[in-house]
Amino acid sequence: MFFTGKGGVGKTSLSSATALALADAGRQVLLVSTDAASNLDEMLGVELRNSPVPVPGATGLSVLNIDPDTAAEAYRQRVLAQMEGSATADEMSAVREQLSGACTTEIASFDEFTALLADPAQPWDHIVFDTAPTGHTLRLLSLPKAWTGFLAGNDRGASCLGPHSGLKMQEARFQAALAALSDPAKSTIVLVTRPDRGAIGEAARASADLHDLGLSNQRTAVNGVFHATDRDDAIACAIEALGAQALEAMPDTLQALPRVDVRCAPSTRWDCPRFAPCCFRG
Ligand SMILES: Nc1ncnc2c1ncn2[C@@H]1O[C@H](COP(=O)(O)OP(=O)(O)O)[C@@H](O)[C@H]1O
Ligand SMILES: [Mg+2]
Repeated sequence: MFFTGKGGVGKTSLSSATALALADAGRQVLLVSTDAASNLDEMLGVELRNSPVPVPGATGLSVLNIDPDTAAEAYRQRVLAQMEGSATADEMSAVREQLSGACTTEIASFDEFTALLADPAQPWDHIVFDTAPTGHTLRLLSLPKAWTGFLAGNDRGASCLGPHSGLKMQEARFQAALAALSDPAKSTIVLVTRPDRGAIGEAARASADLHDLGLSNQRTAVNGVFHATDRDDAIACAIEALGAQALEAMPDTLQALPRVDVRCAPSTRWDCPRFAPCCFRG
């Protein structure tokens, strides 16, 4: 289950709440952060690592962070280990050099990601992804398709991936990941939005792009729906009306998806500007 959407809409809040609810229902759940700027650690009170860490007080729930730099180093080690014995020290150091750029870092994160999707021996009933804002996530989700096609048409591989042997080793994994992503019985996209036009527009574009990638099992979560409790409060009522208008104007493609609305939680906090209307009025 992938939670995607604009920054600040509530991906971390809703993915954590969903993972906790599934764990409470007795399932084995892995919550994965692919967002370097995630505050999942604060939210769950646990230090994030590149391997699953059980969340104290939440039986059945573990959390994992895909950290790009750690993933890149692990990837380099794996490729180099394969070359050992058949390559000279100079060749190995040339490959290490080749594998130290941004492309390798992206691919390495992606590699960790596909391992989660493709490994049939995973002990989890559910894997919940708290993803980075939409653009990054689209890129991540498009890679299995992009690389599977690339591998089918290329014999030599891309230099940022290391020698060809390392690449071929991954091909089966990419294909399995692609199959899992495009199987509606396995993968669900939750388009998280707010009752505002900007966030809804971004969700609609993401929906179309993900559909093109074959990820058709989508639903929306409208977070932070505000209800004025004091009907004499003109500002609160105006905020509620703005939200209702934005939801009415939601594009048909989004209207057609199953949807859940999540209310604005009453809050006494004054320190979350992204959520100002709710914090101030809720
Ligand atoms: N339904 C809600 N009611 C009140 N506050 C919320 C709600 N959902 C999210 N928030 C607050 O809004 C802020 C952004 O939420 P977060 O889940 O971190 O968004 P994202 O992960 O999409 O960037 C946080 O301070 C969070 O506590
Ligand atoms: Mg977040």
